[in-house]
Amino acid sequence: MTPDVPFVDLDAAHAEIEAELGAAVGRVVASGRYLLGPELERFERDFAAYCGVAHCVGVGSGLSAIELALRAAGVGPGDEVIVPAYTFVATWLAVSRAGARPVPVDVREQTYNLDPDLLEAATGPRTAAVVPVHLRGEPADMEPIEAIARRHGLAIVEDAAQAHGARYRGRRVGGLGDAAAFSFYPSKNLGALGDGGAVTTDDAELADRLRLLRNYGMRSRRESETFGVNSRLAEIQAAALAAKLPHLDRWNEARARLAARYLAALEGAAGVSTPLVQDWAEPVWHLFVVNVAERDARAEALAAAGIQTGVHYPVPPHLSPVYAGGEWGPGDFPVAERLAATTLSLPMYPQLEPAQCDAVATALVGTAG
Ligand SMILES: Cc1ncc(COP(=O)(O)O)c(C=O)c1O
Repeated sequence: MTPDVPFVDLDAAHAEIEAELGAAVGRVVASGRYLLGPELERFERDFAAYCGVAHCVGVGSGLSAIELALRAAGVGPGDEVIVPAYTFVATWLAVSRAGARPVPVDVREQTYNLDPDLLEAATGPRTAAVVPVHLRGEPADMEPIEAIARRHGLAIVEDAAQAHGARYRGRRVGGLGDAAAFSFYPSKNLGALGDGGAVTTDDAELADRLRLLRNYGMRSRRESETFGVNSRLAEIQAAALAAKLPHLDRWNEARARLAARYLAALEGAAGVSTPLVQDWAEPVWHLFVVNVAERDARAEALAAAGIQTGVHYPVPPHLSPVYAGGEWGPGDFPVAERLAATTLSLPMYPQLEPAQCDAVATALVGTAG
């Protein structure tokens, strides 16, 4: 059954810019150049300017962006990297792929993001980096994280996969650490027509290392300088992203209006806890998440009413089979585990109608008790 209110609707965004998007794709098809060409150069320039940094390096996915940013920052086997206990598992996988060991720190219940008060205690002689995640599109509390990172000589790699355009104390994410990783998975605030990612940074040497790492470690076609991978942002994706980028702020503003509407409609609703936006944060509402008891039953009731919801994420990484059974078990990160049990993502995309938003809020309240 097609839901009356889908969780996301990518067609709606694409319909708005059909001509621009079609022209961008057609241009690449006609050009005969599909990798590492002018479309990528242009998008890298545009996205770096958007984030307020000097360099952007397009890669194949958000997972690759985190892994390669860590490697370019010198992180490798024997190192530890601090990650939030609550995030999409890709944040942790990227650390493992870089050959390092993820060291989780629990998150703050109100923000879903890394709790800076717990950071120092997790830092040891092997700690090389910290990866704050701007989960749901809300920036992590970067100032205290930066202070501790600087004191211990840690690299900061932002995981901005869900936060294109978000601001922390007036500054755009993407330029708040040594490097930042973005995902352009199709449903992200800025999404490609397939997989894609990028790293932004002000550090020219780090950007140069990333350009090598994404392309077999090769500067020329003759020889490889380092253990690179094949992780490039294709021309067709770069062209589509460049066509969408001028619309990102408008789409983020639409998300913010819908979030304000949800917040007003759900204020005081029994048993529904809503996001508490920090005064230093300008979130971009990749997800609109509430916390409710009996989450699965309520999601089923909403589905029966034609409303599609999501759960981001039902299992925290330390309890996923890939990491569980080793160092960590149930009870180790209580906030992450509590959030995983109660989190529910409501429909959120720029073209969601205000009346649909109201209907979702009314239906959610109706599922109580
Ligand atoms: C927080 C976070 N980190 C990393 C990723 C990985 O990005 P990708 O799916 O492009 O590999 C995602 C998205 O999927 C994400 O939401």
